[in-house]
Amino acid sequence: MSRNRERVIEVVENSFSQSEKIPPEDLMFSYRGILYPTTLSSPETLEALKSFEARSDDVIVAGYPKTGNNWLNEIVREMESTDAKYTEEEMEEIKNAERKLEIFPCLEFGDPGAYERMKKLPFRRIIITHLPPHLLPPSILQSKAKILVLVRNPKDTAVSYYHFHNNMPLLPSFASWDEYFSAFMNGKLAWGSYIDHLVEWNKYIDHERIMVISYEELKEDQVLGMKRIAAFFGFSLCEEDFPRIAKKTSFQTMKEKSEETHGKFGDILFRKGVVGNWRDLFSKSQNEEMDQKFEDCLGGTKLAAKMKYDVYCKA
Ligand code: A3P
Repeated sequence: MSRNRERVIEVVENSFSQSEKIPPEDLMFSYRGILYPTTLSSPETLEALKSFEARSDDVIVAGYPKTGNNWLNEIVREMESTDAKYTEEEMEEIKNAERKLEIFPCLEFGDPGAYERMKKLPFRRIIITHLPPHLLPPSILQSKAKILVLVRNPKDTAVSYYHFHNNMPLLPSFASWDEYFSAFMNGKLAWGSYIDHLVEWNKYIDHERIMVISYEELKEDQVLGMKRIAAFFGFSLCEEDFPRIAKKTSFQTMKEKSEETHGKFGDILFRKGVVGNWRDLFSKSQNEEMDQKFEDCLGGTKLAAKMKYDVYCKA
């Protein structure tokens, strides 16, 4: 079990029980025009986030919800701990420090005091975030910290987020796919519009400390994707580490272990883990609407080429 798993289970399950007491209309709050889940964050936390101080060796993994963050997070954690060659005692120390300091791996979750406590973590920090670059604390982009940006084709991301909204107690449910689709297209979901999120990351695509990786690329050849990640972060792994970690982080293995690693959240998180599931839900007009919006906002960009929209999203 990697690093602060117990803390993740504790925080998520606690927010499940809190959400039972909150009316659906209050499950999200708005901060600077973007929605966030009430049980996981607060305007005060997002205000305090501005003071977060990045370190040059921070490993940052950024992706909009449902693009495969938990998977990539697990891959990166496995790679980082293999590179660092932590002993069992050191690993235990890391877990204890994170537990004691009540640190949650997602940057924008938790209480406003978390950023001060994070300064005390005595080892390389692995930080995940769903925030786009313009909403990140300034010190991240000013520091030498590297950011791995995760993207997934917008149609599968939309479908995955739909099921997540309807199954996750801490998010409001939707009466129908059509109602949800309109919210997705208009950015009326937690963390706002996915297309806007991509537009913002596209502005940083040539930044030397940013690397973009796609869910589909990892599905096609995980070992190759991991080799790119290792080269980017400077992780030194042996040739045999790559297939070992790929096996350990496969959808099947992670799903089977999900109760132990993610508690009740596991059943909701590990749904299908495939490419192309959007075909079950998108109508002809919804396909056209998404194709048009992607073309209008990202057509001809480097990020669009990287995402291979025509391969993964064309009907
Ligand atoms: P689906 O809902 O399409 O199945 P996130 O972690 O950002 O919330 O993303 C969740 C999505 O990643 C879900 O997609 C989930 O099934 C998928 N996923 C989780 N672990 C995975 C793995 N090991 N391999 C492939 N996909 C995975």
